[in-house]
Amino acid sequence: MINSILSVLLLLFSVNVFAAESAAERDARMQWWREARFGMFVHWGLYSGLAGTWDGKPVATKGGMEWIQQRVGADTDTYAKHAIPLFQPKPGFAREWAKVAKAAGAKYVVLTSKHHDGFALHDSKVSEYDAGSVLHRDLLREFVDAMHAEGLKVGFYHSVIDWHHDQYEYAKSKQLPHPLKGKPYPNAQRDHAKYVEYLHKEVDELMSNYGKVDVLWWDFSSVDFQGEEAWKAFELMAMVRAKQPNIIMNNRLFRIPEAGFTGMGTNAIAAQLDPKYGDFITPEQHIPATGMPGVDWETCMTLNTTWGYSEHDHAWKSDETLIRNLIDIASKGGNYLLNIGPKGDGSVPAESVKSMQAIGAWMKVNGESIYATKASPFEKLEWGRATRKDLKGGRTRLYLHVFDWPKDGNLVLPMASTGKTQARLLAGGKTLKVATADGKTTIAVGPTAPDKIASVITLEFDGQGK
Ligand code: GLC
Repeated sequence: MINSILSVLLLLFSVNVFAAESAAERDARMQWWREARFGMFVHWGLYSGLAGTWDGKPVATKGGMEWIQQRVGADTDTYAKHAIPLFQPKPGFAREWAKVAKAAGAKYVVLTSKHHDGFALHDSKVSEYDAGSVLHRDLLREFVDAMHAEGLKVGFYHSVIDWHHDQYEYAKSKQLPHPLKGKPYPNAQRDHAKYVEYLHKEVDELMSNYGKVDVLWWDFSSVDFQGEEAWKAFELMAMVRAKQPNIIMNNRLFRIPEAGFTGMGTNAIAAQLDPKYGDFITPEQHIPATGMPGVDWETCMTLNTTWGYSEHDHAWKSDETLIRNLIDIASKGGNYLLNIGPKGDGSVPAESVKSMQAIGAWMKVNGESIYATKASPFEKLEWGRATRKDLKGGRTRLYLHVFDWPKDGNLVLPMASTGKTQARLLAGGKTLKVATADGKTTIAVGPTAPDKIASVITLEFDGQGK
């Protein structure tokens, strides 16, 4: 009784503490994330060593192989017996990831501290299904140290779904996945409150023992099991915020419209988010058709079709797709969280390294047109995308990303530019001739595209334009 009164008081207190954050304070907290625009996701765990193969056979050639335990319907003992011998992180694996992220131009890296299989990558006191107990290593510490050495911000993806815990009552949801779904609990009776207590303790370790954590990326809830009922979500968030006041969290402890979800399925997104449910919404594997004014959002995406490594998935996206996705997202005011799935030894597949390097080469020349920019003022541009920066003295700079170079060498913008207009090629800074007439601005860009994937032209003028 006293306990429950105490926890209600704690909850009220914590919710109020957070409600006290002003819009200006929130903007300050979100600033680095909004400016970053580009992060790297890392899905890595026991499933990585299995690589999409079970008992010598491919489980699939497409789709998330971090779900392999569920796909083959294995209980934790069976899964662990198959997977643990194949999960052998080599020394210095995280330094390799940090170099990949840095070279790509990503500003933050989010790693799966625990995926749905329940195996934690840190050294946990509350679990024996963790890297500390099984490998005598704290892989999360190695990760954090390596990212910090490269000046990258760190985030933890933490699954609230747990396929290993013996008190996790998977029958409470018809919608959330579980390898034993539809089967009776092997241990007869379960008490979900005990699982929730464990979840909170494990997250407490993550928030207490690794210095400053910049992002906490929850995954995930269903319409029929979410929020307070499923995870004591408000108390969990309050604890996290008390330990990490500047942390940025996503919305996936919930699955209601006020938290950005209209239902199940990755496309069931509502363009709204009450900050009490989190800081940003998470379109998965797709880019929303338009921007979402007033809502922070981040599209997460794979380089092929799986999050966790699979030796059978060769459906790699082209450099053109990846770079244009990053531009498209920035032009709509969102972030791109692009995933690598390292192998069981922690090495990054060569194809992924190549893709990330290609993005990095483009960003090295054109990064200014992505970082710290705002959404395009244009709903649609026939030839590409635009981002925007407000300059001193009321001037505006547009970054025009040209995907389809104009055949006649004249780039036309549906806007009359207003005063002291200047156009340049971003790469190299060459000045270009501009003319305005009939509500249109025409830039003489010459006959050939300097960059086949996306050439960037800057256009500066007094006022806001349009
Ligand atoms: C999904 C999947 C998961 C993946 C995540 C990334 O919710 O369950 O495997 O980690 O999306 O967004």
